[in-house]
Amino acid sequence: MASLSKTPVVLFAVLLTFLALAARAQLDAGFYSSTCPNLLPIVRSSMARAVAKETRMAASILRLFFHDCFVNGCDGSILLDDTETFTGEKNAFANKNSARGFEVIDTIKSNVETACNATVSCADILALAARDGVVLLGGPTWTVGLGRRDATTASQSTANSDLPGPASSLDNLVSKFSAKGLSARDMTALSGAHTIGQAQCQFFRPHIYNDTNISPRFAAFRQGNCPASGGDSNLAPLDLQSPNAFGNDYYQNLLGFRGLLHSDQELFNNGTQDALVRQYARNGALFYSDFVAAMVRMGAISPLTGPNGEIRLNCRKVNS
Ligand code: HEM
Ligand SMILES: *[C@@H]1O[C@H](CO)[C@@H](O)[C@H](O)[C@H]1NC(C)=O
Ligand SMILES: *[C@@H]1O[C@H](CO)[C@@H](O)[C@H](O)[C@H]1NC(C)=O
Ligand SMILES: *[C@@H]1O[C@H](CO)[C@@H](O)[C@H](O)[C@H]1NC(C)=O
Repeated sequence: MASLSKTPVVLFAVLLTFLALAARAQLDAGFYSSTCPNLLPIVRSSMARAVAKETRMAASILRLFFHDCFVNGCDGSILLDDTETFTGEKNAFANKNSARGFEVIDTIKSNVETACNATVSCADILALAARDGVVLLGGPTWTVGLGRRDATTASQSTANSDLPGPASSLDNLVSKFSAKGLSARDMTALSGAHTIGQAQCQFFRPHIYNDTNISPRFAAFRQGNCPASGGDSNLAPLDLQSPNAFGNDYYQNLLGFRGLLHSDQELFNNGTQDALVRQYARNGALFYSDFVAAMVRMGAISPLTGPNGEIRLNCRKVNS
Protein backbone atom coordinates (compact mmCIF):
# COMPACT_ATOMS: atom_id res chain seq x y z
CA MET A 1 0.00 0.00 0.00
CA ALA A 2 2.64 2.47 1.09
CA SER A 3 4.76 1.89 -1.99
CA LEU A 4 1.73 2.15 -4.29
CA SER A 5 0.76 5.54 -2.90
CA LYS A 6 4.33 6.76 -3.34
CA THR A 7 4.46 5.85 -7.03
CA PRO A 8 2.86 9.04 -8.37
CA VAL A 9 5.14 11.14 -6.17
CA VAL A 10 8.20 9.36 -7.51
CA LEU A 11 7.00 9.70 -11.11
CA PHE A 12 6.34 13.37 -10.54
CA ALA A 13 9.83 13.83 -9.10
CA VAL A 14 11.34 12.06 -12.11
CA LEU A 15 9.32 14.28 -14.43
CA LEU A 16 10.45 17.43 -12.62
CA THR A 17 14.07 16.35 -12.80
CA PHE A 18 13.69 15.65 -16.49
CA LEU A 19 12.11 19.06 -17.10
CA ALA A 20 14.86 20.78 -15.12
CA LEU A 21 17.55 19.01 -17.14
CA ALA A 22 15.75 19.79 -20.39
CA ALA A 23 15.55 23.49 -19.45
CA ARG A 24 19.25 23.52 -18.70
CA ALA A 25 20.14 21.63 -21.87
CA GLN A 26 18.65 24.49 -23.91
CA LEU A 27 21.85 26.46 -23.39
CA ASP A 28 24.66 25.47 -25.70
CA ALA A 29 28.27 26.68 -25.62
CA GLY A 30 28.37 26.48 -29.44
CA PHE A 31 25.15 28.42 -29.97
CA TYR A 32 26.85 31.22 -31.97
CA SER A 33 29.66 29.16 -33.51
CA SER A 34 28.43 29.73 -37.05
CA THR A 35 26.58 33.05 -36.59
CA CYS A 36 29.26 34.86 -34.56
CA PRO A 37 32.43 32.77 -34.55
CA ASN A 38 34.59 35.48 -32.92
CA LEU A 39 32.19 36.20 -30.08
CA LEU A 40 34.32 34.70 -27.31
CA PRO A 41 37.57 36.50 -28.21
CA ILE A 42 35.67 39.78 -28.69
CA VAL A 43 34.13 39.60 -25.22
CA ARG A 44 37.40 38.42 -23.67
CA SER A 45 39.51 41.20 -25.14
CA SER A 46 36.89 43.84 -24.32
CA MET A 47 36.81 42.64 -20.71
CA ALA A 48 40.61 42.57 -20.59
CA ARG A 49 40.67 46.25 -21.60
CA ALA A 50 37.99 47.19 -19.06
CA VAL A 51 39.73 45.34 -16.22
CA ALA A 52 43.14 46.78 -17.18
CA LYS A 53 41.55 50.21 -16.80
CA GLU A 54 39.84 49.38 -13.50
CA THR A 55 40.43 46.05 -11.78
CA ARG A 56 37.23 46.29 -9.79
CA MET A 57 35.23 46.06 -13.01
CA ALA A 58 35.60 42.27 -12.98
CA ALA A 59 33.74 42.23 -9.65
CA SER A 60 31.12 44.71 -10.75
CA ILE A 61 30.26 42.68 -13.85
CA LEU A 62 30.12 39.41 -11.87
CA ARG A 63 27.61 41.02 -9.53
CA LEU A 64 25.56 42.36 -12.46
CA PHE A 65 25.23 38.82 -13.77
CA PHE A 66 24.02 37.59 -10.34
CA HIS A 67 21.49 40.43 -10.16
CA ASP A 68 20.33 39.67 -13.69
CA CYS A 69 19.85 35.95 -13.10
CA PHE A 70 18.02 36.33 -9.78
CA VAL A 71 15.29 38.52 -11.26
CA ASN A 72 13.14 36.60 -13.75
CA GLY A 73 16.15 34.60 -14.92
CA CYS A 74 19.28 35.52 -16.88
CA ASP A 75 17.53 37.67 -19.47
CA GLY A 76 19.43 40.96 -19.51
CA SER A 77 16.56 42.63 -17.62
CA ILE A 78 18.93 44.47 -15.26
CA LEU A 79 20.48 46.28 -18.23
CA LEU A 80 17.29 48.13 -19.20
CA ASP A 81 17.19 51.84 -18.36
CA ASP A 82 14.19 53.42 -16.70
CA THR A 83 12.22 55.79 -18.91
CA GLU A 84 9.15 57.91 -18.34
CA THR A 85 6.98 54.99 -19.31
CA PHE A 86 9.13 52.08 -18.18
CA THR A 87 10.36 51.12 -14.71
CA GLY A 88 13.28 48.74 -14.79
CA GLU A 89 15.49 47.18 -12.12
CA LYS A 90 18.31 49.72 -11.93
CA ASN A 91 16.62 51.63 -9.12
CA ALA A 92 15.66 48.60 -7.04
CA PHE A 93 17.14 48.63 -3.48
CA ALA A 94 20.03 46.31 -4.26
CA ASN A 95 20.98 48.11 -7.48
CA LYS A 96 20.44 51.83 -6.94
CA ASN A 97 23.76 53.71 -6.65
CA SER A 98 25.37 50.30 -6.36
CA ALA A 99 25.13 48.14 -9.49
CA ARG A 100 27.81 49.27 -11.92
CA GLY A 101 29.53 48.27 -15.13
CA PHE A 102 26.71 49.14 -17.55
CA GLU A 103 29.02 51.22 -19.77
CA VAL A 104 31.36 48.26 -20.09
CA ILE A 105 28.51 46.03 -21.23
CA ASP A 106 27.56 48.74 -23.76
CA THR A 107 31.11 48.77 -25.12
CA ILE A 108 31.26 45.00 -25.41
CA LYS A 109 27.86 44.95 -27.07
CA SER A 110 28.95 47.53 -29.61
CA ASN A 111 32.13 45.54 -30.36
CA VAL A 112 30.01 42.42 -30.80
CA GLU A 113 27.49 44.26 -33.01
CA THR A 114 30.30 45.42 -35.29
CA ALA A 115 31.28 41.80 -35.88
CA CYS A 116 27.82 40.19 -35.92
CA ASN A 117 24.90 42.57 -36.16
CA ALA A 118 21.69 41.73 -34.28
CA THR A 119 22.78 38.21 -33.38
CA VAL A 120 24.05 37.95 -29.81
CA SER A 121 21.86 38.70 -26.78
CA CYS A 122 22.88 41.10 -24.02
CA ALA A 123 22.10 38.30 -21.54
CA ASP A 124 24.72 36.05 -23.16
CA ILE A 125 27.27 38.89 -23.33
CA LEU A 126 26.83 39.42 -19.59
CA ALA A 127 27.24 35.69 -18.88
CA LEU A 128 30.51 35.58 -20.86
CA ALA A 129 31.84 38.84 -19.43
CA ALA A 130 31.24 37.63 -15.85
CA ARG A 131 33.21 34.46 -16.51
CA ASP A 132 36.01 36.37 -18.24
CA GLY A 133 36.28 38.80 -15.32
CA VAL A 134 36.72 35.94 -12.85
CA VAL A 135 39.44 34.43 -15.05
CA LEU A 136 41.20 37.79 -15.45
CA LEU A 137 41.47 38.08 -11.66
CA GLY A 138 43.05 34.64 -11.40
CA GLY A 139 39.91 32.60 -10.70
CA PRO A 140 38.68 29.37 -12.24
CA THR A 141 37.25 29.12 -15.73
CA TRP A 142 34.18 27.30 -17.00
CA THR A 143 32.25 26.74 -20.19
CA VAL A 144 29.42 29.23 -20.60
CA GLY A 145 26.24 27.82 -22.12
CA LEU A 146 24.72 30.28 -24.61
CA GLY A 147 21.44 30.92 -26.37
CA ARG A 148 19.72 33.15 -23.80
CA ARG A 149 17.51 35.82 -25.32
CA ASP A 150 16.77 39.26 -23.93
CA ALA A 151 13.69 40.22 -21.96
CA THR A 152 11.34 42.89 -23.19
CA THR A 153 10.24 43.54 -19.62
CA ALA A 154 11.86 44.01 -16.22
CA SER A 155 10.53 44.02 -12.68
CA GLN A 156 11.65 46.44 -10.01
CA SER A 157 9.34 44.80 -7.49
CA THR A 158 10.78 41.33 -8.16
CA ALA A 159 14.30 42.79 -7.86
CA ASN A 160 13.26 44.25 -4.50
CA SER A 161 11.81 41.01 -3.24
CA ASP A 162 14.20 38.42 -4.70
CA LEU A 163 17.69 39.92 -4.33
CA PRO A 164 19.16 39.23 -0.88
CA GLY A 165 20.19 42.20 1.26
CA PRO A 166 23.30 42.52 3.46
CA ALA A 167 21.27 42.23 6.69
CA SER A 168 19.93 38.79 5.68
CA SER A 169 20.01 35.90 8.12
CA LEU A 170 21.32 32.51 7.06
CA ASP A 171 17.75 31.15 6.84
CA ASN A 172 16.81 34.05 4.63
CA LEU A 173 19.81 33.53 2.33
CA VAL A 174 19.09 29.81 2.04
CA SER A 175 15.47 30.44 1.17
CA LYS A 176 16.20 33.16 -1.42
CA PHE A 177 18.61 30.85 -3.24
CA SER A 178 16.32 27.88 -2.84
CA ALA A 179 13.58 29.91 -4.53
CA LYS A 180 15.88 29.97 -7.61
CA GLY A 181 16.58 26.24 -7.48
CA LEU A 182 19.98 26.72 -5.84
CA SER A 183 21.05 24.75 -2.77
CA ALA A 184 22.54 26.06 0.48
CA ARG A 185 25.85 24.68 -0.77
CA ASP A 186 25.47 26.67 -4.02
CA MET A 187 24.69 29.76 -1.95
CA THR A 188 27.79 29.35 0.19
CA ALA A 189 30.00 28.73 -2.85
CA LEU A 190 28.53 31.67 -4.80
CA SER A 191 29.03 33.99 -1.83
CA GLY A 192 32.72 33.33 -2.41
CA ALA A 193 32.34 35.88 -5.23
CA HIS A 194 32.95 38.33 -2.38
CA THR A 195 36.62 37.38 -2.70
CA ILE A 196 36.71 40.33 -5.11
CA GLY A 197 35.21 43.81 -5.18
CA GLN A 198 34.12 46.51 -2.79
CA ALA A 199 31.17 47.43 -0.60
CA GLN A 200 29.88 50.76 0.64
CA CYS A 201 29.89 51.74 4.31
CA GLN A 202 26.10 51.99 4.40
CA PHE A 203 25.88 48.24 3.76
CA PHE A 204 28.41 47.05 6.34
CA ARG A 205 27.94 49.73 9.03
CA PRO A 206 25.47 47.76 11.18
CA HIS A 207 27.81 44.75 11.12
CA ILE A 208 30.93 46.64 12.22
CA TYR A 209 29.14 48.68 14.90
CA ASN A 210 26.49 46.39 16.31
CA ASP A 211 27.26 42.75 15.66
CA THR A 212 29.18 40.61 18.14
CA ASN A 213 30.30 37.87 15.73
CA ILE A 214 33.10 40.07 14.38
CA SER A 215 36.77 40.42 15.25
CA PRO A 216 37.04 43.57 17.45
CA ARG A 217 40.29 44.54 15.73
CA PHE A 218 38.72 44.17 12.31
CA ALA A 219 35.63 46.13 13.38
CA ALA A 220 37.76 48.99 14.72
CA PHE A 221 39.86 49.00 11.55
CA ARG A 222 36.80 49.23 9.31
CA GLN A 223 35.19 51.88 11.52
CA GLY A 224 38.20 54.04 10.62
CA ASN A 225 36.75 54.70 7.17
CA CYS A 226 33.07 54.10 7.94
CA PRO A 227 31.78 56.51 10.59
CA ALA A 228 28.66 55.74 12.63
CA SER A 229 26.92 58.36 10.54
CA GLY A 230 27.98 59.89 7.23
CA GLY A 231 30.39 58.50 4.69
CA ASP A 232 27.67 56.18 3.39
CA SER A 233 29.41 55.49 0.11
CA ASN A 234 32.95 55.03 1.49
CA LEU A 235 34.34 51.80 0.13
CA ALA A 236 36.01 48.84 1.79
CA PRO A 237 37.13 45.60 0.15
CA LEU A 238 34.80 42.63 0.70
CA ASP A 239 37.95 40.53 1.02
CA LEU A 240 40.37 42.13 3.47
CA GLN A 241 43.66 41.03 1.88
CA SER A 242 43.11 40.77 -1.85
CA PRO A 243 39.98 42.30 -3.39
CA ASN A 244 41.72 42.23 -6.78
CA ALA A 245 42.61 38.54 -6.77
CA PHE A 246 40.10 35.71 -6.90
CA GLY A 247 40.76 33.03 -4.27
CA ASN A 248 39.41 31.25 -1.20
CA ASP A 249 40.65 33.79 1.34
CA TYR A 250 37.06 35.05 1.73
CA TYR A 251 36.37 31.87 3.71
CA GLN A 252 39.60 32.19 5.70
CA ASN A 253 38.42 35.66 6.70
CA LEU A 254 35.08 34.24 7.84
CA LEU A 255 36.94 31.79 10.11
CA GLY A 256 38.68 34.81 11.68
CA PHE A 257 35.34 36.70 12.00
CA ARG A 258 36.46 39.19 9.38
CA GLY A 259 33.44 38.98 7.08
CA LEU A 260 32.54 42.50 5.91
CA LEU A 261 28.77 42.13 5.56
CA HIS A 262 26.45 40.72 8.17
CA SER A 263 25.28 38.28 5.48
CA ASP A 264 28.87 37.11 4.88
CA GLN A 265 29.48 36.25 8.54
CA GLU A 266 26.12 34.45 8.69
CA LEU A 267 27.80 31.65 6.72
CA PHE A 268 30.11 31.02 9.68
CA ASN A 269 28.11 31.67 12.80
CA ASN A 270 27.43 28.33 14.48
CA GLY A 271 25.10 27.31 11.66
CA THR A 272 24.63 24.70 8.96
CA GLN A 273 27.29 26.17 6.64
CA ASP A 274 30.18 26.29 9.16
CA ALA A 275 31.63 22.94 8.11
CA LEU A 276 31.55 23.87 4.43
CA VAL A 277 33.16 27.25 5.11
CA ARG A 278 35.98 25.42 6.92
CA GLN A 279 36.39 23.08 3.92
CA TYR A 280 36.51 25.94 1.40
CA ALA A 281 39.01 27.81 3.58
CA ARG A 282 41.28 24.76 3.61
CA ASN A 283 40.71 23.48 0.10
CA GLY A 284 40.76 26.07 -2.66
CA ALA A 285 40.24 23.43 -5.35
CA LEU A 286 36.99 22.31 -3.73
CA PHE A 287 35.79 25.92 -3.60
CA TYR A 288 36.66 26.39 -7.28
CA SER A 289 34.85 23.28 -8.44
CA ASP A 290 31.75 24.10 -6.37
CA PHE A 291 31.83 27.76 -7.45
CA VAL A 292 32.02 26.81 -11.13
CA ALA A 293 29.19 24.28 -10.84
CA ALA A 294 27.05 26.84 -9.00
CA MET A 295 27.81 29.58 -11.57
CA VAL A 296 26.65 27.25 -14.35
CA ARG A 297 23.44 26.50 -12.42
CA MET A 298 22.88 30.20 -11.67
CA GLY A 299 23.51 31.02 -15.32
CA ALA A 300 20.78 28.59 -16.34
CA ILE A 301 17.99 30.14 -14.25
CA SER A 302 14.91 30.46 -16.50
CA PRO A 303 16.56 31.63 -19.71
CA LEU A 304 14.37 32.93 -22.52
CA THR A 305 15.13 30.73 -25.51
CA GLY A 306 13.80 29.88 -28.95
CA PRO A 307 11.06 32.29 -30.01
CA ASN A 308 10.85 33.97 -26.60
CA GLY A 309 12.33 37.40 -25.92
CA GLU A 310 14.46 39.18 -28.49
CA ILE A 311 18.04 40.04 -29.43
CA ARG A 312 18.26 43.59 -28.18
CA LEU A 313 20.25 45.94 -30.41
CA ASN A 314 20.94 48.29 -27.50
CA CYS A 315 21.25 46.60 -24.10
CA ARG A 316 19.61 49.58 -22.40
CA LYS A 317 16.30 49.45 -24.24
CA VAL A 318 13.91 47.03 -25.82
CA ASN A 319 13.81 47.02 -29.62
CA SER A 320 11.13 49.27 -31.00
C1 HEM B 1 24.43 35.71 -0.62
C2 HEM B 1 23.80 36.85 -0.75
C3 HEM B 1 24.47 38.13 -1.18
C4 HEM B 1 24.33 39.33 -0.58
C5 HEM B 1 23.47 39.67 0.62
C6 HEM B 1 25.18 40.25 -1.31
C7 HEM B 1 25.30 41.60 -1.02
C8 HEM B 1 26.23 42.44 -1.57
C9 HEM B 1 26.43 43.81 -1.21
C10 HEM B 1 25.60 44.58 -0.17
C11 HEM B 1 27.46 44.29 -1.93
C12 HEM B 1 28.06 45.70 -1.88
C13 HEM B 1 27.32 46.61 -2.85
C14 HEM B 1 27.70 48.06 -2.68
O1 HEM B 1 28.32 48.41 -1.69
O2 HEM B 1 27.35 48.88 -3.57
C15 HEM B 1 27.92 43.23 -2.76
C16 HEM B 1 28.97 43.31 -3.64
C17 HEM B 1 29.34 42.30 -4.49
N1 HEM B 1 28.68 41.10 -4.68
FE1 HEM B 1 27.32 40.33 -3.46
N2 HEM B 1 25.82 39.58 -2.30
C18 HEM B 1 25.41 38.28 -2.27
C19 HEM B 1 25.77 37.29 -3.16
C20 HEM B 1 26.57 37.47 -4.26
C21 HEM B 1 26.72 36.55 -5.35
C22 HEM B 1 25.97 35.22 -5.47
C23 HEM B 1 27.60 37.10 -6.22
C24 HEM B 1 28.10 36.57 -7.54
C25 HEM B 1 28.14 35.29 -7.85
C26 HEM B 1 28.02 38.36 -5.65
C27 HEM B 1 28.98 39.19 -6.18
C28 HEM B 1 29.35 40.41 -5.63
C29 HEM B 1 30.51 41.15 -6.06
C30 HEM B 1 31.55 40.65 -7.04
C31 HEM B 1 30.50 42.35 -5.36
C32 HEM B 1 31.47 43.53 -5.51
C33 HEM B 1 30.95 44.43 -6.62
C34 HEM B 1 31.80 45.65 -6.92
O3 HEM B 1 32.90 45.82 -6.40
O4 HEM B 1 31.33 46.46 -7.75
N3 HEM B 1 27.35 38.57 -4.49
N4 HEM B 1 27.14 42.10 -2.54
C1 LIG C 1 21.82 45.94 -37.58
O1 LIG C 1 20.65 45.21 -37.79
C2 LIG C 1 19.45 45.93 -37.53
C3 LIG C 1 18.29 44.95 -37.60
O2 LIG C 1 18.43 44.09 -38.69
C4 LIG C 1 19.35 47.10 -38.47
O3 LIG C 1 18.18 47.84 -38.17
C5 LIG C 1 20.55 47.98 -38.29
O4 LIG C 1 20.52 49.02 -39.21
C6 LIG C 1 21.83 47.18 -38.45
N1 LIG C 1 22.94 48.03 -38.10
C7 LIG C 1 24.08 48.02 -38.77
C8 LIG C 1 25.16 48.93 -38.26
O5 LIG C 1 24.27 47.33 -39.75
C1 LIG D 1 22.86 49.69 16.40
O1 LIG D 1 21.72 49.25 17.11
C2 LIG D 1 21.00 50.29 17.74
C3 LIG D 1 19.91 49.66 18.59
O2 LIG D 1 19.15 48.77 17.82
C4 LIG D 1 20.46 51.23 16.68
O3 LIG D 1 19.74 52.29 17.25
C5 LIG D 1 21.64 51.79 15.89
O4 LIG D 1 21.15 52.59 14.81
C6 LIG D 1 22.48 50.69 15.33
N1 LIG D 1 23.68 51.25 14.73
C7 LIG D 1 24.11 50.91 13.51
C8 LIG D 1 25.35 51.57 13.05
O5 LIG D 1 23.52 50.12 12.80
C1 LIG E 1 29.87 29.32 18.47
O1 LIG E 1 29.46 29.60 19.79
C2 LIG E 1 30.53 29.57 20.74
C3 LIG E 1 29.93 29.75 22.12
O2 LIG E 1 29.11 30.89 22.15
C4 LIG E 1 31.57 30.62 20.40
O3 LIG E 1 32.63 30.59 21.30
C5 LIG E 1 32.08 30.35 18.97
O4 LIG E 1 32.97 31.39 18.57
C6 LIG E 1 30.92 30.31 18.00
N1 LIG E 1 31.40 29.90 16.70
C7 LIG E 1 30.98 30.50 15.60
C8 LIG E 1 31.50 29.95 14.34
O5 LIG E 1 30.21 31.43 15.57
